[in-house]
Amino acid sequence: MMRDDMTRVINVDLGDRSYKVKVGSGLVAGAGALVEGLGYRLVVMVTDTNVSALYAGALTESLRSSGVDVFTVEVPAGEQHKTLEVASGLIDEILGHKPPVDRRTLVVALGGGVVGDMAGFLAAIVLRGLNWLQCPTSLLADVDASTGGKTGVDHAAGKNLVGAFHQPLGVMIDVDVLRTLPVAELANGMAECVKHAVIRDAGLLDYIAANADNLMSVSGDQKLGFKEDVMVELIARNVSIKSSVVSEDELETGVRADLNYGHTIGHALEAASDFTGLGHGEAVSLGMVAENRIASCRGLLPSDRAGRVESVLDSLGLPVRRGGYDPEAVWNIMQHDKKMLDGKTRMVLPSDTGSVKIYDDIKEEEVLDAVEFLGKERRA
Ligand SMILES: NC(=O)c1ccc[n+]([C@@H]2O[C@H](COP(=O)([O-])OP(=O)(O)OC[C@H]3O[C@@H](n4cnc5c(N)ncnc54)[C@H](O)[C@@H]3O)[C@@H](O)[C@H]2O)c1
Ligand SMILES: [Zn+2]
Repeated sequence: MMRDDMTRVINVDLGDRSYKVKVGSGLVAGAGALVEGLGYRLVVMVTDTNVSALYAGALTESLRSSGVDVFTVEVPAGEQHKTLEVASGLIDEILGHKPPVDRRTLVVALGGGVVGDMAGFLAAIVLRGLNWLQCPTSLLADVDASTGGKTGVDHAAGKNLVGAFHQPLGVMIDVDVLRTLPVAELANGMAECVKHAVIRDAGLLDYIAANADNLMSVSGDQKLGFKEDVMVELIARNVSIKSSVVSEDELETGVRADLNYGHTIGHALEAASDFTGLGHGEAVSLGMVAENRIASCRGLLPSDRAGRVESVLDSLGLPVRRGGYDPEAVWNIMQHDKKMLDGKTRMVLPSDTGSVKIYDDIKEEEVLDAVEFLGKERRA
């Protein structure tokens, strides 16, 4: 059942590309009503092999009840399938559909960030652009990937290197589907929530700290046991932050880079682990701890604030110390990884919870020290 009393709506303010993000419970069943009257004849639903078995049936039924035909294509689950080859196969399926897709076709993404990025990319390029609706199903996709219009696939030369900015028509976040999400995937999303709190909202860090036990609880049947209103509140607050950053800087020429907090060192740790054995959330958690260390050594971030962030990460089951990384190797990956062309190493450093600035004078010895710091014992 749709619970209207709990539904939150966040506006992503992008001029004529503005759209709404709805967060609530029971939304999947109400999706048909959302699409009704918009003039679409056909929905191309893009999902993955895990999510399809769980939720594609209910969404299809709801959409069909509003009079649109639904045609489903599946991405094999997993980041390794977010490729041009898989996209090309899906394009063959979509263009082979009878009756043919046209401007009255809506692409609907049902899945985690992999599905969202792939579906958005297909929507951006098939027939030079179709409208699309996002129904994210992982916490990471809810709080991060769903908002902002970045779409694309990975390339052998690096992650997310081929793609387009293509804003969706709307985003529908149903917390009910999170019940089946593996706990490790939940933690991935939580790391991004802590990131948002540190860059923009000290109150959000307090909220996460106060509700960590509830958010991370697992019930007897191994399903996630969070309270719906707490999850809705968490997601809505995070979408608001992401949305305000994106509204200010849609194409990442300025403040959108604040969202890279924890990711500069985090990505390098992920690459140093060959993208296996270290989840994205774990990497970002360690990345935030290491970058906080640099901020503390510079005298920017008081140590009690850094300690508080670590405690919150720890309470979410995220790692705050991990040895075994070669600091030189991490630094070298960062040099190779750099998006900026002027040879400077940039990093987003906090001076307080909720306040960050971009620094472009990060030195090798600071990064080496920060990676070594991750291997030291934590004094709680
Ligand atoms: N576009 C953006 O702005 C943006 C931002 C952040 C991340 N991303 C991208 O998002 C991707 C990571 O997203 P992700 O962490 O959601 O990964 P994912 O899509 O691979 O999902 C993680 C796993 O959870 C499963 N799953 C998803 N929802 C489920 C549910 N409700 N119940 C049970 N299982 C479920 C998936 O099948 C998958 O196995 C990366 O490719 C990353 O580049 C994009
Ligand atoms: Zn991330």
